[in-house]
Order: sequence, then C-alpha cells, then structure tokens
Amino acid sequence: MVFVKKKTTVPVSALYMFAVWCLISMTAHADTCLECHSEWEDNDRAPSKLISTDVHFKAGLGCADCHGGDPTLEDMDDVRQYKNYLGVPEPEEIPLFCAGCHSNPAYMIKHNPSLSTDQFDKYKTSVHGKLLLGKGDIKAANCVSCHSVHDIASPRIPTSTVYAVNIPTTCAECHGDAGYMAEYKIPTDQYEKFAGSVHGIALLERNDLGAPACNDCHGNHGAIPPGVTSISAVCGLCHSLIADEFSRSPHKKAFDDLGYPECEGCHSNHLVQKPQHYWMGTSDSSICVNCHAFDDGTIALTSAETMHKSLVDLHDAYTRAESRTNDGELKGMMVTDLRFKLKEVKQFIIKTGTAIHSFNDSVVVKTAEPGLQLANKVYESAAAKIDEYYYRRYGLGIASLIITMLAVLLYFKIKSIGK
Ligand code: HEC
Ligand code: HEC
Ligand code: HEC
Ligand code: HEC
Ligand code: HEC
Ligand code: HEC
Ligand code: HEC
Ligand code: HEC
Ligand code: HEC
Repeated sequence: MVFVKKKTTVPVSALYMFAVWCLISMTAHADTCLECHSEWEDNDRAPSKLISTDVHFKAGLGCADCHGGDPTLEDMDDVRQYKNYLGVPEPEEIPLFCAGCHSNPAYMIKHNPSLSTDQFDKYKTSVHGKLLLGKGDIKAANCVSCHSVHDIASPRIPTSTVYAVNIPTTCAECHGDAGYMAEYKIPTDQYEKFAGSVHGIALLERNDLGAPACNDCHGNHGAIPPGVTSISAVCGLCHSLIADEFSRSPHKKAFDDLGYPECEGCHSNHLVQKPQHYWMGTSDSSICVNCHAFDDGTIALTSAETMHKSLVDLHDAYTRAESRTNDGELKGMMVTDLRFKLKEVKQFIIKTGTAIHSFNDSVVVKTAEPGLQLANKVYESAAAKIDEYYYRRYGLGIASLIITMLAVLLYFKIKSIGK
C-alpha cells in the first residue's frame, strides 16, 4: 500500500504543477480575440482564418495591436468599451491606422530596422492619397487595396499581392476595370498593354525580376504618372546609358519644350516593343518623319539616313558572319574563337543601339565601325576555314584517286607476271 501510494504521488504532483504552469502561461500569452474569433468565424477570408500567414502575426503582433482592445477580455462588448479600442477603420482612416506604427521610427526600429518609415508621407503626395485624404473619395487605393488585410506579406514573398510579378494584377483590379474607373476618364488598358510589352513578357512570362512592374515607373506609395519631362529619368533607372545619351542630345530640350514625352514619345509607356531598325531613317514608317522633313532647316533626316545605314550594315555584317560560322561548324571545323568574337560584335550592336540616342550620326558611325570590322574579320576567318576544308577534301580526293589507280596498275602487273 505504502509502496503504491508513493508511486502515485509523484505523477499527481507533477500533473498539478504542469496544470498551474499551463494556466500561468496561458494568461500571459492569452489572445482571447483570436481564440473567440476562430470559434465562430467560418468564412475562409475571415480575419482569424487568414491571420496565420500575416507578417504582423508572425512578428508576434495580434488583433489587439491593430484594433486595440485588451486581448485578455472574454467578451466582445467589454472589448468595445475598452479605452483604446479602434474597431474597424473606415477606408479613409486606414492610411493613418497603418501609419500609427509604420511612420513611427522609434517603434519600427525595434521590430525591423531595415524597414523605411516613409510610406504614409509618400502616400499623401500620390494621386491616390490626395483623392482619398483630400476629397474623401474611397475608390482611390488605400493601404489595404494594395497590401490586402489579415494576410499582409512582405513584398519579397512570392504570394504577396505586392510581389513584383503580382503587382500588375493588384493594380489592374481597379485600373483594368472600366466600370470602376469610368468617372475618372483615364484609359483602363495599362495592364493589357503592359502584359504584351517587352517588359511585361519578361516579368510575367519569364519571371525576370529585372524588368519593371507598375511600381518601378510609378513609385510604390507615391503613385503618380511621371511628368512629361522626367520620363527619361524613370526609364533611366534601368536604361541609364541610353538616358545619358538622350539627355545630351538635341532632343532633350526640344522634346521638353514641345511637351513631347521623351522616351515614351518613340517607345510608348505601357506597350514598349522590341525596337526595329526601320524606326530610324527616312522611310514612311520611320519615327523621324513624324516631326522632320528634308527641308525643315535641320540636318535631322540626312543624319537619320546615315544612322540607319550604320545600324543595318552592322546587323547585316553580323548575320553574314554568323551564318558563315555556322557553315564552318557543320563541316566539323573548330569555331570557338569565332563564336567568342561574334559575342563581341553583339556588344557593338548594343552600344550602337545606345549611341543612336545621341541623335548624332558621327557618334553612331564611330561606335558601329569597330563592330563592323570585327564582323567582317569573323566572316573572312570562317570563309578561310571553309576553303581549307574544301582544299583538304579536294586533296584527299586526288590522293585516293592516285592510290586507286596505282592499286589497279599493280593488280594488272601482278596478274601479267602470274601468267
Ligand atoms: C468572446 C468572443 C470574442 C472576443 C473575446 C473578441 N471578439 Fe471581436 N467579435 C466577436 C463577435 C461575435 C463579433 C461579431 C460582431 C458582433 O458582435 O455582432 C466581433 C466583432 C469584432 C470586430 C468588428 C467590429 C465590431 O466592433 O463589431 C472587431 C474589429 C473585433 N471583433 C476585434 C476583436 C479584438 C481586437 C478582440 C480582442 C481584444 C476581440 N475582438 C475579442 C467576438 C469576440
Ligand atoms: C495589421 C493590422 C491588423 C491586424 C493585425 C488585424 N486587423 Fe482586422 N482589420 C484591419 C483593417 C485595416 C481592417 C479594415 C479592412 C477593410 O476596410 O477592408 C480590418 C478589418 C477587420 C474586421 C472587419 C471585417 C473584415 O473581415 O474585414 C474584423 C472583424 C477584424 N478586422 C478582426 C480582426 C481580428 C479578429 C484580428 C486578429 C485575428 C485582426 N482583425 C487583426 C487591420 C488589422
Ligand atoms: C501595431 C503596429 C502595426 C500596424 C498598425 C501595422 N503594421 Fe505593418 N508592420 C509592423 C511591424 C512591426 C512590421 C515588421 C514585421 C517584421 O518584419 O518582423 C510590419 C510589417 C509590415 C509589412 C512587411 C514589410 C516588409 O518589407 O517585410 C507590410 C507590407 C506592412 N507591415 C503593411 C501594413 C499595413 C498595410 C498596415 C495597415 C493595414 C499595417 N502594416 C499596420 C507593425 C504594424
Ligand atoms: C498603390 C498601391 C499601394 C498602396 C496604396 C500602398 N502600398 Fe505599400 N507597397 C506597395 C508596393 C508595390 C510595395 C513594394 C514594392 C517592392 O518593394 O517591391 C509596397 C511596400 C510596402 C512596405 C514595405 C517597405 C517599403 O516601403 O517598401 C510597407 C511597410 C508598406 N508598403 C506599407 C504601406 C502603408 C502603411 C500604406 C498606406 C499608408 C501603403 N503601403 C500603401 C504598394 C502600395
Ligand atoms: C482600389 C483601386 C485602385 C488600386 C488597387 C490602384 N489604383 Fe491607382 N488609382 C485609382 C483611382 C480611383 C485613381 C484616380 C484616377 C484619376 O483621378 O485620374 C487612381 C490613380 C492612379 C494614377 C494617376 C492617374 C492619373 O493620370 O490621374 C496612377 C499613376 C495610379 N493610380 C497607379 C496605380 C498603381 C501603379 C497601382 C498598383 C501599385 C494602383 N494605381 C492601384 C484606384 C486604384
Ligand atoms: C516602363 C514604365 C511604366 C510601367 C512599367 C507602367 N507605367 Fe504607367 N505610365 C508610365 C508613363 C511614362 C506614363 C505617362 C506619363 C505621362 O505621359 O505624363 C504612365 C501613365 C499611367 C497612368 C495614367 C493614365 C494613362 O494610361 O496614361 C496610369 C493609371 C498608369 N500608368 C498605371 C499603370 C499600371 C497599372 C501599370 C502596371 C500594369 C503601369 N502603369 C506600368 C510608365 C509606366
Ligand atoms: C526596372 C527596370 C526598367 C525600367 C524602369 C525600364 N526598363 Fe526597359 N527594359 C528593362 C529590362 C530588364 C529589359 C529587357 C527585357 C527582355 O529581356 O526582353 C528592358 C527592355 C526594354 C526595351 C527593349 C530592348 C530590346 O533590345 O529589345 C525597350 C525599348 C525598353 N526597355 C524601353 C524602356 C522605356 C521607354 C522605359 C521607360 C518608359 C523603360 N524601358 C523602363 C528594364 C527596365
Ligand atoms: C526620337 C525617338 C527615340 C527616343 C526619344 C528614344 N528612343 Fe530608344 N530607340 C529609338 C530607335 C529608332 C531605336 C532602334 C535602334 C535600332 O534600330 O536598333 C531605339 C532603341 C532603343 C532600345 C534598344 C537598344 C538596343 O540595344 O537595341 C532601348 C532599350 C531604348 N531605345 C530605350 C530608350 C530610352 C530609355 C529612351 C529615353 C531615355 C529612348 N529610348 C528614347 C528611338 C528613340
Ligand atoms: C516629336 C518630334 C520629333 C521626333 C519624332 C524626332 N525629332 Fe529630331 N528634333 C525635333 C526637334 C523639335 C528638334 C530641334 C530642332 C531645332 O533645333 O530646330 C530636333 C532635332 C534633331 C536633330 C538635330 C538637328 C540639327 O540640325 O541640329 C537631329 C539630328 C534629329 N532631331 C534627329 C532625329 C531622328 C534621327 C529622329 C528619328 C529617330 C528624330 N529626330 C525624331 C523633333 C523630333
């Protein structure tokens, strides 16, 4: 009996201790908000169902950190009466609601020192912010229109609504909806055009994060159309060498004075296409003839002709050299050195494509020239290798003919000796 009693006292007291510990830790960490809401909320998009994926929840923040209230209260009515309870913010209140933490550097630095705290300041200056905060127009985007709510994620997470590849769809929810946007009288084709552009294809089809999404040109929080005179700066974020050439060209000032939108004037903004050589020059389909004529008192069209010729000559020289090199390879020649040089020619093609934005023909000719010479050299080397191949084959043919003839002669000779 004594033995048995002794055996049971140990687990009983351990269980008791465990229960007390549980109670203490439960009260310390209690989140009655989440507990109670999980019990009755059944919709998949309900706060308590979504929250486990939320960046705030993962960082240890709960419902009460955003909505206020005391997360130990057992009753929603008590929560509502609690001094700091904010309830559900109206759309026009949301920016300040989020900014309560996000614009507070002292608070943010404790959680994530690398996060900037300028979102609200920038948002206030955006078309969205001015419309919502200034005019109370709740159709303008607020923080949760772009970030979602209760499942907010870092922009670096591929499922985030603001992950680069998802941004165009996030913006298009409003900007691609003609009914929603009807009263604003702006186009609603940005997504459609972007998706068919070189940028859209790179981003949406090839997941190339180097290509711009809407926010790279419009800003994340300061969403505004770049003004006509700063478009080259926006495109220049990535195409910096081209933007430099353009800024030095006679077009920079001329376009700004005319109110002609810089890069966009020739390339479009949303439907940027792969450039073609015929855009440059004097044919009816060139861009230049839209503004220039031979008798407009400028040298524009004569230089357009020269630049067009440079571009086409270099392109043709490359194509010729490449096809000769391919022939050589098919015939079993070693062409590694030629392939390497062809890559160098490609670099000259890119440099020339950049140089045309100086709209100065002598700069273009000078840039293209070494590429042209190199391409011609490759062509000649490939041709020489192919000649060598034929020379060898020809030589081999003659040699085997002579050997065969000798063998036949020898055969008859032996036969005649045998007789
Ligand atoms: C005992 C259950 C319970 C607890 C605890 C609870 N809620 Fe609720 N809450 C509800 C119910 C039920 C509703 C639905 C609205 C109603 O009461 O009609 C609700 C509604 C809400 C709403 C919608 C706005 C409103 O005022 O109706 C918010 C926001 C909210 N709760 C946040 C919280 C937060 C934050 C906490 C913790 C501090 C919390 N809740 C704790 C049950 C609870
Ligand atoms: C990062 C801040 C944040 C956190 C954390 C948060 N909420 Fe919200 N909640 C909001 C905002 C902002 C809205 C308003 C959304 C809107 O207008 O679309 C909202 C709306 C709501 C609503 C209104 C109905 C709905 O579904 O949108 C309820 C209920 C609610 N929250 C409950 C909760 C509960 C419960 C939790 C914890 C599980 C929680 N919230 C955590 C910011 C937050
Ligand atoms: C109670 C304070 C608080 C409120 C209110 C709040 N946040 Fe946050 N938020 C944070 C903290 C803290 C982090 C950093 C979490 C981490 O990195 O661990 C964060 C992170 C984020 C991130 C991820 C940033 C990144 O790059 O990783 C986004 C996006 C975000 N919040 C958006 C919002 C939006 C939108 C609202 C309003 C609906 C909001 N937040 C309201 C405190 C808050
Ligand atoms: C028009 C859409 C849009 C609105 C409105 C918007 N954001 Fe963002 N936000 C973005 C995009 C896009 C990014 C991320 C871009 C990236 O880094 O790739 C972002 C990033 C963030 C980040 C991560 C850190 C940073 O600054 O890059 C935080 C935090 C954030 N937003 C908070 C907010 C808050 C708070 C509001 C409201 C005041 C808000 N956002 C309004 C689109 C929006
Ligand atoms: C909730 C809907 C909504 C979302 C989401 C939204 N916008 Fe907007 N946006 C609007 C409304 C409404 C206007 C006001 C149009 C106007 O006044 O011309 C606007 C205006 C703009 C403008 C100024 C247009 C002009 O010339 O007046 C730009 C640029 C813009 N948004 C970019 C974006 C980008 C980029 C995103 C995504 C990161 C985005 N928007 C997400 C509703 C939205
Ligand atoms: C490569 C840069 C770039 C990208 C990417 C881009 N935009 Fe634009 N966007 C511009 C420029 C430039 C303008 C015109 C500015 C001007 O003419 O003043 C513009 C204008 C706009 C306008 C004003 C109305 C209009 O169509 O002229 C809206 C709205 C807009 N963009 C939304 C978007 C959305 C949504 C996306 C993503 C699907 C997007 N933009 C992608 C550069 C870009
Ligand atoms: C965020 C960086 C970024 C911004 C901003 C940007 N681009 Fe691009 N652009 C790229 C990338 C990356 C590619 C290559 C896409 C591909 O692989 O097809 C590209 C390709 C192009 C091409 C096609 C080049 C070719 O040889 O096929 C043109 C033309 C172009 N961009 C013009 C513009 C214009 C005009 C703007 C401003 C309105 C702009 N870009 C803004 C990154 C950017
Ligand atoms: C006056 C018209 C015009 C303007 C303005 C203009 N471009 Fe171009 N761009 C062209 C033409 C024409 C080509 C095609 C050249 C060719 O045949 O390869 C081109 C080619 C390009 C290419 C491809 C270059 C390559 O390697 O083949 C990019 C990228 C580009 N432009 C970006 C820009 C940017 C960024 C701006 C503004 C800073 C700009 N362009 C301004 C006419 C223009
Ligand atoms: C939107 C109209 C517009 C387009 C399109 C345009 N230009 Fe121009 N260009 C101008 C204006 C305006 C000037 C300044 C004229 C002046 O100084 O009298 C100019 C000046 C020039 C100059 C300097 C002329 C000189 O005599 O100093 C050259 C070269 C030039 N453009 C070449 C081109 C080429 C090549 C194209 C096609 C790829 C082109 N332009 C497309 C408007 C345009």
